[in-house]
Amino acid sequence: PVPAGLGFPGIGFESVPASVSVTSAPAAPAVADRITVPAGYTAELFVAWGDPIMPGAVPFASDASNTAAEQAKQFGAHNDGMAFFPFLGTDGRPSVDRGILAINNEYTPEEILTPAGIAGANLAAVRKSQAAHGVSILEARRRNGKWMVVKNSVYGRRLTANTKTRISGPAAGHALMKVNEYLISDTGSHATGRLTDGYTAYGTINNCANGVTPWGTYLTCEENFNGNFGSNTAVPAPTAGEVGKMFNRYGLTKDGFNYKWHTQDPRFDLNVNPNEANLFGWVVEVDPYDPKSVPVKRTALGRFKHESAQYVVDAQGHLAVYMGDDERNEYIYKFVSAGKFNPADRVANRNLLDDGVLYVAKFDADLSGQWLPLLPGTVGVDGVALRDNPNFAGANDAEVLAKILIKTRMAADAVGATMMDRPEWTGARPRIGGFNKIEIYCTLTNNNRRGSSATPSSNKADGTTAAGSARPAVDAANPREDNIYGHIIRWQETGDTVKATTFAWSLFLQAGDTKTTKPAKATNNYKGNIVADPYGSADFGAPDGLWFDPFGRLWVQTDQIGDASGDWKNIGANCMVCADPNTGMARRFLTGPNGCEVTGIAMCPDGKTMWVGVQHPGEDATPSNPELKSRWPANQWGVESDGVTSLPFGRPRSAVVVITKDDGGVIGS
Ligand code: FEO
Ligand code: CA
Ligand code: CA
Ligand code: CA
Repeated sequence: PVPAGLGFPGIGFESVPASVSVTSAPAAPAVADRITVPAGYTAELFVAWGDPIMPGAVPFASDASNTAAEQAKQFGAHNDGMAFFPFLGTDGRPSVDRGILAINNEYTPEEILTPAGIAGANLAAVRKSQAAHGVSILEARRRNGKWMVVKNSVYGRRLTANTKTRISGPAAGHALMKVNEYLISDTGSHATGRLTDGYTAYGTINNCANGVTPWGTYLTCEENFNGNFGSNTAVPAPTAGEVGKMFNRYGLTKDGFNYKWHTQDPRFDLNVNPNEANLFGWVVEVDPYDPKSVPVKRTALGRFKHESAQYVVDAQGHLAVYMGDDERNEYIYKFVSAGKFNPADRVANRNLLDDGVLYVAKFDADLSGQWLPLLPGTVGVDGVALRDNPNFAGANDAEVLAKILIKTRMAADAVGATMMDRPEWTGARPRIGGFNKIEIYCTLTNNNRRGSSATPSSNKADGTTAAGSARPAVDAANPREDNIYGHIIRWQETGDTVKATTFAWSLFLQAGDTKTTKPAKATNNYKGNIVADPYGSADFGAPDGLWFDPFGRLWVQTDQIGDASGDWKNIGANCMVCADPNTGMARRFLTGPNGCEVTGIAMCPDGKTMWVGVQHPGEDATPSNPELKSRWPANQWGVESDGVTSLPFGRPRSAVVVITKDDGGVIGS
């Protein structure tokens, strides 16, 4: 049922001229423990953490007592980016009733993942945490007007922290990718048979946002992989040679994010297996139409804390992938393929992401920008070519390139790229309705480590300072000190080719609270410049998810505290807004439940069905009272998503909702 070359987001859709509007009254900004959508729309629960998605799966146990093996056949935890892959309809066109959803499961709420809620308490708990990470691939079908998960579908599949994947591209097989043989069985005994050759990795983790390819595969992006590692002993200091420098630059520490996987599974102990961390932080490609396909880590796209991966094919057939590295003062990248996309031959594109050039962005004050190639011959700001920089030195340029890709952040430091305010999602504006530029947008969600305000002088999430990366001053592209609310930047490629090495950029909008009465600490820090719709509903902050639908509407999802406290008093809950790329006008479309982040969005090819993700409702719930902050989604619909009435409601669950317009129209029309 593979509709080769048809129906994937951004290609093969109806070429409907952009009519950017949400014509209904907007969703309310108030804080409530439920999803709200505008009048005239219906949101229904589609799938939630723990729901069965493949043959042999058992229902979710609302006390979180499902085992790791059960979790490995259920929908994973804390869903994030997603994409819809339609089957071919009987009319030869992409189906709008049946297809596959690939949905990332970024991380796990250790406090409510098991009945005891104690992270890393034993191997069984660690294995469950590992099984809840990764990607959920499921078949979605509309029957009698209602969308549902096909529970026994042969397309149902889970990728977890233990799924075997292939490593490809220039860094595959490099010495830094070779790991120790240490592997344990599920009973804790030493297991053998692990491939350690640098061409194989076990698992994909911290799968944040995503992308698709025009040949119909899914790209899942590994973000905060560092947090899942740790060590029972002190890790090498930043000054302690190559390993210490890399650990420091990628934020690998003794305690990580307190998952404690390393206490049970030495694969994740940084001192037992220092190179294991090098197998994560990649963009991973998987073919959802082939349930037996082996996921592939594409090293040509670089190693960092990948947020999303938006492709563009230009008129000459060249393909670029635009990517953000989500951490304070990190960079924006693009990969440009050496080969051309072949729309007539799906298989011919299979390895297009293995060969090309990775660039990093430099935003200049005059609203121009440069793409700096991360290649052995590129001369750094110190006047030294990367091949002569001790961080990347190797026997030949092939080895130098492998090191550049494994240590991408350090290469970007060396060439003087522009440190950004946490680059999250990238999105490409559709070239329809008379608009024919290659124009890319990127959310810069926030940054409290820029400028001179009195937060710790550091570049790293764990409080250490990365070598060579002092706290930057504000600049034209990141103009706020202590950027609370974030902004969205966009750029157009020179000559409308993805191979351009220069671009023109502008700030699309600065988010904020246009109703603030706070004294002007730094006026635009608070107010922003969002063009409000007539309902005045649009103020938002911390833009994170960003996606253009095929009709030219820009959907923006937020990730802030969400409880209307402090700087968020007038903004309230997290939300999804619809913005007009021509005018900057934004209108709230959806408001999320308590303590959640709204992240992940996909549509049917006809634009009449939309899936939206809700991540971590009731964030930081306690083991003793998991319902303290949220009882969503069971509270909103009165039942768990598998239809089982469950009172009391059980634990809050990350979930995906499906949204339709009551008149059957295009979402947002
Ligand atoms: Fe996983 Fe940067 O959000
Ligand atoms: Ca995000
Ligand atoms: Ca975020
Ligand atoms: Ca969040």
